Order: sequence, then structure tokens, then C-alpha cells
Amino acid sequence: MKPRVLSGIQPTGNLHIGNYLGALRNWVKIQYDYESIFCIVDLHAVTVYQKPEDLKAKIVELAGLFLAAGIDPKHSMVIVQSMVPGHAELAWLLTCVTPVGWLQRMTQFKAKSEEQETIGSGLMQYPVLMAADILLYQAKVVPVGDDQSQHLELARDIAQRFNSLYGDTFVMPETRLPAVGARVMGLDEPEKKMSKSAPGSGHAVALLDPPEVIRKKIMRATTDSNPAVDFEKAGPGVVNLLAIFQAFSDWPDDKMKAHFSDMRYGDLKKQVAEMVETSLDPIQRRYREITSDPGYLDGVLRAGAERVDPIARSTVELVKGRMGVYTRG
Ligand code: TYM
Repeated sequence: MKPRVLSGIQPTGNLHIGNYLGALRNWVKIQYDYESIFCIVDLHAVTVYQKPEDLKAKIVELAGLFLAAGIDPKHSMVIVQSMVPGHAELAWLLTCVTPVGWLQRMTQFKAKSEEQETIGSGLMQYPVLMAADILLYQAKVVPVGDDQSQHLELARDIAQRFNSLYGDTFVMPETRLPAVGARVMGLDEPEKKMSKSAPGSGHAVALLDPPEVIRKKIMRATTDSNPAVDFEKAGPGVVNLLAIFQAFSDWPDDKMKAHFSDMRYGDLKKQVAEMVETSLDPIQRRYREITSDPGYLDGVLRAGAERVDPIARSTVELVKGRMGVYTRG
């Protein structure tokens, strides 16, 4: 049997090129090498308030984008987290072996909790639910962007702690980062990672942005006071634009240097915009095709849930048995 890969994305905000280059594109590349499970993590989304009607629409939109980007639902299992009860069930069982201090140390928790007036306890439990997503399927490989590395370390710590308390139960999941594009930065603030929730209209290129919007955002991206590309001295904005181009084009370093050295920033931006537009165009076309049949995505998500459910149930039963809580047997 092939080893399993699992990853997930929250159905909040607009999916952007950071999500694509850091995660989704790599799922597409490796999906056939594994038994692949790709999850829309709506239970993570509700750790902060979401308008119910918007959340539902975002879940379906995200499923459409997974498929439009090239996830093959005949091979890979595309699921919504809340449709498979095992995620929440295992999360509780793992919560009971997770020290509070481990959760309070998480940098994303610290950052997010500073933004909120009151913090739901779900926000602190967030990484335990993420560990449950992975461990529920005994996933070996987890392809993510760099910002999830700390959460994955925690997932391994939780797995190890469970294994040492109750005997060998969980496979240790590995973090798989892309070589280029693991941390795409905001176009307007290149010191900060590109984020779905950042307020600025020039911050992120969304996967469904029309070509003229993509161009505008990239042409306005923050650079630095140098007039042209110097690979030794480039500031974070220019480094980011070059990384975006390289990730989409798959050009090697020497080709990047030969082509872009001494290029004026205006021309660099035009070429980056062109590269992003032509790369996103086929995804946008497929997205329109897929969403023209309203029932299709719902069918894909139901089929995904049915396929993963037996795996999820057997892990939950195993874990319950190990812990000594009552099982149906
Ligand atoms: P989320 O929804 O914030 O992001 C989804 C994926 O996109 C990556 N990513 C980025 N990569 C490069 N540059 C960026 N600027 C950038 N921003 C986001 C993220 O690293 C991620 O891979 N907690 C997760 C979702 C999750 C999950 C899981 C992931 C829940 N359960 C189990 C893996 C396995 C999250 O909020 O991702």
C-alpha cells in the first residue's frame, strides 16, 4: 500500500498565490505517489467567528479551487473536516495528552490572540485539531508552507507523547516544504507573509483575481530604493517578486540570475505579472467549468467523506482502546 499524504486549507478569505505555491501546487505534484487526502478545514475556520452563509460558500469555492488547480478526485480524497466525525473525536482524545504550555507557546496562537478581544478556547486547541487531522489517517507526509512547521512539530510531539503513554500507535508525520515558495511575502509589506486575512487591497494576489487586478497589484508592489535588480543587494520586496517568478516558472537559479540581473524594477514587475497571469489563467478557466455544474462539487465531497470514514473510524477505535475508554468493539 502507498504511504498516505494529508494536508488542509482553511475556507476563509481568498485563496492566494502563497497558499498555491506553498501548498496546493505541491499536493497536485505528489498526489499520485501517495494515497492522498486533502481537507477543507472548516472546524479550524470557526476558531474565529465566521458568517455562517459565507463559510458555506467558501467551503464549496475551496473545493472548486482544489480541483481547478489539478487535484484529481478520482484518485485523491477531497474532504470537508466537519463531515468526518473522527477529526473532532480524535482531537478531544489528543487534547487530554497535550500540556497547555505547549499550546501557549505557538507563535500563531500568540499572534492571533493579540488581534481578538476575547479568545475562544478553540483558538488555543487549534494545533491539537490539526494534529488530529494528520494522525487520524496515519499520514506519513504533510505538504505545507513554512508557517505550519511549528504546528507540525507539535503534532509529532503529541504523537510521541501518546505513543509513550499508551504504546506505539501513531506514525510520525514528516513536514514537506517546497524548495521555492514556502513563504511568499505580502506584496505591500514584504516583511510579512502573504495572508488571507490581511486588510490591504494590494497585499495578496488571489487565485481568482482577474488579469488586470493581478497586474495592478504586482505593478504596485513595494520594492526598494535601488533602480534595478542586484541579487546581492535586493531588498525583501524584490526578493519576493523574484521568488514568485521562480516558483511559477521553475527556472533554476543560474537562469534567474542571467535573465534578471540589472533589470529595471518596472520591467521585472511586468514580467512577474505576466508569469502569474498566464499561470493562473488555466486554473481560472477550469474553476469556471467545474462550478458551472452546481451539484458536482457536493458529490465529490460526499464521496470523499465516504472513502475516508472507515480509515478514520478504525484509528479512533484503536486510540479509544489504547486509552481504555469504552469502544463498540
Ligand atoms: P492555511 O489555510 O492558513 O494555509 C493553507 C496552506 O497554505 C500555506 N501558506 C503559505 N505558503 C507560502 N506562503 C504563504 N504566504 C502562505 N500562507 C499560507 C500554509 O502553510 C498551508 O500549507 N493550519 C493550517 C490548515 C490545516 C492543516 C491541517 C495543514 C489544518 N489541518 C493538517 C496540514 C495538515 C492552516 O491554517 O493553513
